[in-house]
Amino acid sequence: STQTQIAGSVFANCIMNASGVYCHSAHELDAVQQSTAATFVTKSATLAPRAGNPEPRYCTVPFGSINSMGLPNHGLAYYLDYVSQAQRDFPGKSYFLSITGFNVEEDLALIRQVQASDFAGIVELNLSCPNVPGKPQTGYDFEAVARILEAVFALYQAPLGIKLPPYFDLIHFDEIAAILNRFPLAYVNSVNSIGNGLCVDAASEAVLIKPKGGFGGIGGVYLKPTALANVRAFYERLKPEIQIIGTGGVVNGSDVFEHILCGASMVQVGTTLQEEGIGAFARLTRELKEIMAAKGYQTLDDFRGRLKTL
Ligand code: DHB
Repeated sequence: STQTQIAGSVFANCIMNASGVYCHSAHELDAVQQSTAATFVTKSATLAPRAGNPEPRYCTVPFGSINSMGLPNHGLAYYLDYVSQAQRDFPGKSYFLSITGFNVEEDLALIRQVQASDFAGIVELNLSCPNVPGKPQTGYDFEAVARILEAVFALYQAPLGIKLPPYFDLIHFDEIAAILNRFPLAYVNSVNSIGNGLCVDAASEAVLIKPKGGFGGIGGVYLKPTALANVRAFYERLKPEIQIIGTGGVVNGSDVFEHILCGASMVQVGTTLQEEGIGAFARLTRELKEIMAAKGYQTLDDFRGRLKTL
């Protein structure tokens, strides 16, 4: 079985979409809902709907993708309505709602709106969008993270996790983990894209996407060693009540297995889902099950976090 559990909610599978992919519209979310995915997370919602950055704003490259979407979304009320309906249609199933404010006041306004709704799932507060011109990635400002979490948990005690950008320095893991351990977080989701990479087309001597002079978040195969490092580093540093969701570089069943081995309790798929479509969930699940069967593992608990060192 690939069953898992996040914040007390049980999921029949441990693979789901990463926010940003297949989750902008009701139509896309329906497709994830009807697939073998564990559940869905919605596109990061802002208070008001946003059109996002000018196109082209996503491009596939041989080892992954670059994007600078700029938070196109239908606004929080749309996603709350969608999840509310899903909760009625499939009682007993839990959903992830991604939200992102441009400052702590907006984060609190979003949280208040969630609180006033019938939402019964898990909130994912995105602290790592790299693509809004002039706005820094919150996750790299450790004092801001502490301030936001203080304010959020003063208001909201239902299950809430955060999506973080990748970190690249062991001291940074020590510092951010010490802050996160002060809060009743349900989980940490690592990683968002590697922010502000640049992909170049040599033939045309041009960038691949229009916003920000071609700079954008890097996903896909490029991301895997960084993602695994972040999953592992947080697994080793966070208190056991804070679970890990692993995101980054999942192309095949072994990638899912590796994320879990490093400590992930759920694994999210972004670029591969965007490129392959909804069938990716069934394929990845079958490949994970094949690896588990070959190794004689019955459940994720048989190997989660049990990465060996030399
Ligand atoms: C967008 C990209 C992200 O990586 C993110 O976390 C949120 C939003 C975007 O460009 O839409």
